[in-house]
Amino acid sequence: MSAHGTPIPMQSAPCGPLNGTANVPGDKSISHRSLILGALSVGETKISGLLEGQDVLDTAKAMRAFGAEVTDLGEGNWSVHGVGVGGFAEPANVIYCGNSGTGVRLIMGAMATSAITATFTGDASLNKRPMARVTDPLALFGAQAVGRDGGRLPMTIVGAADPVPVRYEVPVPSAQVKSAVLLAGLNAPGQTVVIEREATRDHTERMLAGFGAEITTEVTEEGRVITLTGQPELKPQVIAVPRDPSSAAFPVCAALIVPGSDVLVPNIGLNPTRAGLFETLRDMGADLTYENPREEGGEPVADLRARFSPDLKGIEVPPERAASMIDEYPVLSVVAAFAQGQTVMRGVKELRVKESDRIEAMATGLRANGVEVEDGPDWWIVTGMGHGKVPGGTEVESHLDHRIAMSFLCLGMAAQQPVRVDDGGPIATSFPIFEPLMTGLGATLTRL
Ligand code: S3P
Repeated sequence: MSAHGTPIPMQSAPCGPLNGTANVPGDKSISHRSLILGALSVGETKISGLLEGQDVLDTAKAMRAFGAEVTDLGEGNWSVHGVGVGGFAEPANVIYCGNSGTGVRLIMGAMATSAITATFTGDASLNKRPMARVTDPLALFGAQAVGRDGGRLPMTIVGAADPVPVRYEVPVPSAQVKSAVLLAGLNAPGQTVVIEREATRDHTERMLAGFGAEITTEVTEEGRVITLTGQPELKPQVIAVPRDPSSAAFPVCAALIVPGSDVLVPNIGLNPTRAGLFETLRDMGADLTYENPREEGGEPVADLRARFSPDLKGIEVPPERAASMIDEYPVLSVVAAFAQGQTVMRGVKELRVKESDRIEAMATGLRANGVEVEDGPDWWIVTGMGHGKVPGGTEVESHLDHRIAMSFLCLGMAAQQPVRVDDGGPIATSFPIFEPLMTGLGATLTRL
């Protein structure tokens, strides 16, 4: 839906080659964290390249509600005057986090060890998503949560007045849960320890270290053991947000399936905890190269070049790679439809609790467009039809999920018949320039 709640039906018609340079926006995960950590520092944090998608704008608003001064300086430049660890004020009103699981879960963590109370809510998608995964560990610090049945929003968190540090093993592979615990640990005395069996995106750890916190990660038999020393004074930073590999996924995947395409996607972060899709595509035979590989701000970065790939083959995606490409399975399933043979995706139960049940949303929409999909609780299999053989021609539901909407619009670019999406509005949460960017490359997208 648009910001006003009116659905925006969209169509993507088969198109000629996609060509040119795709400058995708800033990384969503790093943008949220820049605002939150800036708000928890003493002094001014300067951010350039911030993603100005609705999810991040909602987090900016929330940081103001907790007392930080957050200023939009134009063209992706933002300034945050923070209040320091433990300095959050009690918000006067309910905090609306829109569509963003990352926003609400990280902010809950950041406020849970201060003696303040805050109530959180979101849109129809966010209010269905599980929050107990965050409030369970926050209770160990001494915070209390009261929400709807099943641990859903709207929910009130009463922060711990005398927080105690916590040792917590994250039961699901989730960077949001890990980050919520670490942010809560900031205002607890002593050492908070988080253990994750599978490595998930490590932006919080890297950025906390950058802001001056004492934080270490040890790889042990138990998994990654992350130890944070509480009550640091975080030092404001100058942050250049790298471009988002999860947004790069769309022009990259579209180029692989539209005949004759050749697209350059510059400056993409290839942090190994985020780059699983690109490895998988190369395993499938994609003509995808990393040009000009370099390091920027401590992160590996390269320009991605994707060309039409006539010989894509289905593969079994290594389940241990799932966390590093968790947001990319929807668009991978679209590429899989144009490959030869089956693409098997296992160990992906988390896809069922994203902005939508992404296995269900993609399987239903792909089947409606003529693609064979099997699925179970934590797996799905797409049977590829080869290039030029995917029928398309049907309308699908995006379920208030930006990545579902963009994935099906990519499907329409290479299918035999146009594909329609009931509501492209949610795309604005993460990739507000998707439509002009893809159209500029040669896609035929229309609002109906
Ligand atoms: C994110 C973590 C992931 C991912 C989400 C962003 C983050 O969620 O799906 O889009 O910024 O920490 P989970 O922690 O639920 O896996």
